[in-house]
Amino acid sequence: MRAHLITYGCQMNEYDSHLVQSQLVSLGADMVSSIDEADFVLLNTCAVRGKPVDKVRSVLGQLRKIKAQRPLVVGVMGCLAQLEEGQQMARKFEVDVLLGPGSLLDIGAALESNQKFWGLQFKDELHQHIPPAPSGKLQAHLTIMRGCDHHCTYCIVPTTRGPQVSRDPDQIMRELDTLLAAGIQEVTLLGQNVNAYGFDAGAKRAGYPSFAELLRMVGSSGIQRVKFTTSHPMNFTEDVAAAIGETPAICEFVHLPVQSGSNRVLRRMAREYTREHYLAHISNIRKHIQNVVLATDIIVGFPGETEEDFQETLSLYDEVGYDSAYMFIYSPRPGTPSYTHFADLPRELKTERLGRLIAKQKEWSAKQNARWQGSIQQVLLRGDAYSEGFLEGHTRGNHPIVVPRAVGADGPGVYQARVTATTPHMLYGELVGADGQALPVMASQQPEDAALISPLLML
Ligand code: 5AD
Ligand code: SF4
Repeated sequence: MRAHLITYGCQMNEYDSHLVQSQLVSLGADMVSSIDEADFVLLNTCAVRGKPVDKVRSVLGQLRKIKAQRPLVVGVMGCLAQLEEGQQMARKFEVDVLLGPGSLLDIGAALESNQKFWGLQFKDELHQHIPPAPSGKLQAHLTIMRGCDHHCTYCIVPTTRGPQVSRDPDQIMRELDTLLAAGIQEVTLLGQNVNAYGFDAGAKRAGYPSFAELLRMVGSSGIQRVKFTTSHPMNFTEDVAAAIGETPAICEFVHLPVQSGSNRVLRRMAREYTREHYLAHISNIRKHIQNVVLATDIIVGFPGETEEDFQETLSLYDEVGYDSAYMFIYSPRPGTPSYTHFADLPRELKTERLGRLIAKQKEWSAKQNARWQGSIQQVLLRGDAYSEGFLEGHTRGNHPIVVPRAVGADGPGVYQARVTATTPHMLYGELVGADGQALPVMASQQPEDAALISPLLML
């Protein structure tokens, strides 16, 4: 079998794709890189907004046409598969295999069944399963919990991924061991709400550490860098901030989605906190974590959002001064309370507000990134950058960074770099030795080129 896997959505979908891909390979599949070469095409889908759903619909339309011409098995997995919306689509486009986020390990049974196979249960075995470490990489994801017990009115995820289930800490540490043995240098702990780890359905699970304790355990395992996502402010307790501040391996990067700066909107979103609570979390984070880099998620144009509410979001942005933000236009999702009960705002109004928010974000990102100018950062370089002779990667604060290859640092690895230029979305730097002196750039890479290329890249 020649299988092609296409992934949409979040980092957990990337983790799940890796998990399913390793299952496929163990079943004897060859992974191929295009639909044309494949006799099995599997889409790992996202349902959080309308756009990724539209994308899947259009790819399924293409696949149905191909199916009319040659034998092809089509599969849909992930969040959309769990919804009535996805199941209707699967019927319409003659999808053969449908696997919800809790049934991924049914992939083998699905392919053996030789008929249409739908797996929609949330199976416990998934939490026990340890996928092999990704090969030839320095970064990996590690799922520590799945599902969500919050009920934000705009969000489809509690429906698609079910209630929260934390993974057994022994399984997490075993998976971490396999990653360490494979040479992974940076691990990102994943969950829809990692801060609530160990408290499923609001109750502490006997024998499970809290998230803060888990962070300390992972941080002392010998791994160089630890990141995590996603956090809900309600569960971001001060001990988590303290664990980050006190554990050297845990990166000084916090992604804390706020969604809106208006208490009225936050209440209608059922976010369970106020602007004031959120800001108190931010000051705790700043108190415990020196030089912390802060990111957030914001939804603009939630139903009923007035210009005044939106101004509150802008002023919150100024008050926090985020380093970066993911900004979304509200997208009504069938099956969510806000879809059922509230009227969507006009598209133009939402777009116009998004434009103003993006301008604010750019201003702040430019200002915040400039504070790293001249500093020395630990960088994890993944490999070649777009421009020849350059490597790209990330800092501990999650900034993308590009540096020229240097003698002794000409491939993937964890190095030190001095930041030599900054833009709102990117840092540029030079690799340095332990003494802080710049390492000589590779012979094929003249420094004049670097000087020329950097400003070009900034455009
Ligand atoms: N519309 C727009 N954005 C949404 N998000 C979640 N649901 C919706 C929706 N219905 C955003 C939130 C969340 C991120 C993953 O996606 O900001 O934090
Ligand atoms: Fe998309 Fe959310 Fe599902 Fe991730 S968990 S794939 S973001 S709907």
